[in-house]
Amino acid sequence: MANIAVLGHGVVGSGVLEVLTSHAASIAKRAKEEIHVKYILDLKEFPGLPYSDRFTKDFNVILNDPEVQIVVEVMGGLHPAYDFVKACLENGKSVVTSNKELVAQKGAELLAIAQANNLNFLFEASVGGGIPIIRPISQCLAANDVTEIAGILNGTTNFILTKMIREQMNFEDALKLAQQLGYAERNPSADVEGLDACRKICILASLAFGTHVYPDSVYTEGITKITLQDVDFADVWGGVIKLIGSVKKLENGQVHIMVCPMFVHRGSQLASVDDVFNGIMVRGDATGDVVFYGKGAGKLPTASAVVADVIDCVKHFKARKYLFWEDAKPNYVADFGSME
Ligand code: HSE
Repeated sequence: MANIAVLGHGVVGSGVLEVLTSHAASIAKRAKEEIHVKYILDLKEFPGLPYSDRFTKDFNVILNDPEVQIVVEVMGGLHPAYDFVKACLENGKSVVTSNKELVAQKGAELLAIAQANNLNFLFEASVGGGIPIIRPISQCLAANDVTEIAGILNGTTNFILTKMIREQMNFEDALKLAQQLGYAERNPSADVEGLDACRKICILASLAFGTHVYPDSVYTEGITKITLQDVDFADVWGGVIKLIGSVKKLENGQVHIMVCPMFVHRGSQLASVDDVFNGIMVRGDATGDVVFYGKGAGKLPTASAVVADVIDCVKHFKARKYLFWEDAKPNYVADFGSME
């Protein structure tokens, strides 16, 4: 039996518990071991749940329990998530996380600690919610030289833009609806200002190009300035406005990366990615374009990716070495001017 602990019982954490409970038998078969949630860390109480007796407010109880082999971090935010994850990896526990802020800021360091200790640090859920994208880029497409990635990486803003395009709903009402449906971040400015999409394109770029791309060096513009009039103009010109995260290898070897609203022609596959769905195009020199599509946010899609990583961890307790990037200075440019 594999004992795990879940840090955080918010939207994703409760989804992870739900998936682990409802699919317990098939998950045990695939993991070749039963997965037991020994602790759930949260500051709040959640009475009346089948696992209410396993809540703790004390992280040290988890850290100091040698029976806990895998820790699932679904708290979000950089602190205390970073301190907890680092402590786990330094104390013999593999970590699975959905936390894109953590991976985008500290991925190189945490991967290096995990690998030095022969442990896993897995983060499939950090980009694209339920869409498999981390493994495909780092494993399935490993024979390629990836030259470009372009994607709709934020479900909340895509939901808002879809409501603006299809129903002429105003920005504020669409954002409220996205929050009610549990898509938005705790602080929705990370979504609407493009920061969440920026973190995700940084993670994909780091995986594809092997050096850590830090979000604060990437030109990032969100959708707060987009009006219903802009949406109408785009329509007249035969397209739609989408928030796109893109990274491209230029001929001189530099990598160009940015996040901003872009005009997308109706003929493009990304133009038809609506609502909370994400779409990601990866261009490989051997494969050509490969497109990934699915629900990019929400409780169960994200939980699906987290639980799949837990199963992977149980089956392969030693470090999965396909996930790696260096903390070297990358050769990238991050502003419009450098496109010239
Ligand atoms: N707020 C994020 C989004 C959640 O809307 O895409 C999933 O990362």
